[in-house]
Amino acid sequence: MTQESRRPAAPRPEATRAVCPGSFDPVTLGHVDIFERSARLFDEVVVAIGVNRAKPSSSRLFGPDERLDLLRTATEHLPNVRVEEFDGLIVDYARSLDAVAIVKGIRGVTDYEYEMPMAGMNRHLTGIDTVFLTTDPAYQFVSSSLVKEVVSMGGDVSALVPPHVLRALGAKLGR
Ligand code: PNS
Repeated sequence: MTQESRRPAAPRPEATRAVCPGSFDPVTLGHVDIFERSARLFDEVVVAIGVNRAKPSSSRLFGPDERLDLLRTATEHLPNVRVEEFDGLIVDYARSLDAVAIVKGIRGVTDYEYEMPMAGMNRHLTGIDTVFLTTDPAYQFVSSSLVKEVVSMGGDVSALVPPHVLRALGAKLGR
């Protein structure tokens, strides 16, 4: 037996909770991939729908309650993931949950440039770290905006969103 293996087991760290914020209008399979991977990294994950004050709510296709329902169905296979709404600063919300990290998916340099200042500001405000997960290559080109545009013009996004989201998009956009 080596010296290393005789050491007492390290005390189990406290359960870790992370927040995955976004507008999710609507949730895509790219988001679901990030939730699944976050759920393996943290004990508990809170998917948080933010009310972005910079964007008027008329710019959203789905209302907050609809987005919440779509997200809850999309994450029902993940027992350690729950979905909530938040208003105000993400850091205040994360602190109210005792979250250890904010998790964001990064598709490429544009996301990186958008996310870096927010991660820096959030760390400046509260010390909370942002963990970036690189998007699965299968979903690197997927965004909620593009999915809505494609559906509105009759394109097929069935491989890019969960089936219930596809139905909701069809109903909303008359397709
Ligand atoms: O889907 P999005 O547009 O990337 O979501 C952005 C969201 C809602 C996560 C972001 O706008 C946000 O965190 N808003 C909360 C307000 C806030 O904390 N603003 C300061 C960020 S440094």
